[in-house]
Amino acid sequence: MYKVRFVNPQKQYKDYRKKFLQTIDNVFSRGDLILRQDLEKFEKNFAKFVNVKHAIGVNSGTDALTLSMIAIDLKKGDEVITVAHTFMASISCIYHCGAKAKLIDVGKDFNMDINLIEKAITKKTKAILPVHLNGRTCDMEKIMRIAKKHKLIVIEDAAQSIGAKIKTNNKWKNAGTFGTTGCFSMYPFKMLGAFGDAGMVVTNDPKIARKIKLLRYNGEDRSNRKFYYHGYTALLDNVQAALLDVKLKYLPSWIRRRREIAKLYNNGLKNIPEIVTPDFKDSRSFDVWQNYVIRAKDRNKLKNYLGKEASVETLISWPKPTYKEPVLQPNKIHLLETEKICKEVISLPMYPELTDSQIKYVIQSIKKFYKK
Ligand SMILES: Cc1ncc(COP(=O)(O)O)c(C=O)c1O
Repeated sequence: MYKVRFVNPQKQYKDYRKKFLQTIDNVFSRGDLILRQDLEKFEKNFAKFVNVKHAIGVNSGTDALTLSMIAIDLKKGDEVITVAHTFMASISCIYHCGAKAKLIDVGKDFNMDINLIEKAITKKTKAILPVHLNGRTCDMEKIMRIAKKHKLIVIEDAAQSIGAKIKTNNKWKNAGTFGTTGCFSMYPFKMLGAFGDAGMVVTNDPKIARKIKLLRYNGEDRSNRKFYYHGYTALLDNVQAALLDVKLKYLPSWIRRRREIAKLYNNGLKNIPEIVTPDFKDSRSFDVWQNYVIRAKDRNKLKNYLGKEASVETLISWPKPTYKEPVLQPNKIHLLETEKICKEVISLPMYPELTDSQIKYVIQSIKKFYKK
């Protein structure tokens, strides 16, 4: 067992155990298992939280992305511009529709380099898929401007960024609410994590909302028993929705704590010359810190030291660019920043249950490594 674990789901369970068990008992006693009131309630609350008209619960972030791509009629021959530095699902959802991903590089904040978007547009481009990585929103004002100019659809991968915001026209706007849809993951270790897989699509477009609602449940409208699409079994489970609704109430306080932890890390690590902290100092962005990712010299040795000698668990996302997977090989490209990032990044423990003394210990351990 590590002294500081990378994630600690048991601690959160312990803290809210009574509420979770009451919720499960309540749902199971009613026998409400599939597409019931708890799902509807959670969808309404989720929509309110991110300030959007419709939220549709699905069974993963991957399905949220894939159903979004199907909903915009993405087809063979189409291209979608997205980043190489992301979880593979941001790319797989494009290939599931027979379309191609045009992968571009990211900037210093790990998000899509907006200066590269227009160069990647071809006659085949149908959509842009920005990924709000690590709890930080992409520059959506500029992305939406480019999309409008070239008549492109925007689907946002907000899997890592519930509650993240960016100021546009002097107003805060949530990650996931700019494009045709925003796609969220509630995988257990996400900021709002289920007790298994879960996801959400949000949209302000009622036609897209209806299409995704039908696609997630076999393509049938159960109110008139008509089939409209070849669909899927991709619903968010009712009991998971009920549990997520309990958690949603605490999310603002968890985000506050994540922001505090990020500040402690930023201050504690800022004078180590071998490290670049994610202290982006951008007052337009409200970051929610799904992950705290530093760039470090001798990254692999640091990871080894932290794990074996300091007993601090860390993670590398991702050690290899997505386009270097031999079986998938989306594109034969070479992206400078993406490749550098893969060699340098390491994610430190980041969750609201971390104590200040644990954070201090992680910082001291990193300092100790570089002094050796
Ligand atoms: C950026 C990104 N996109 C998509 C996904 C897919 O979400 P899920 O694991 O819920 O399918 C993830 C999950 O890790 C992610 O981090």
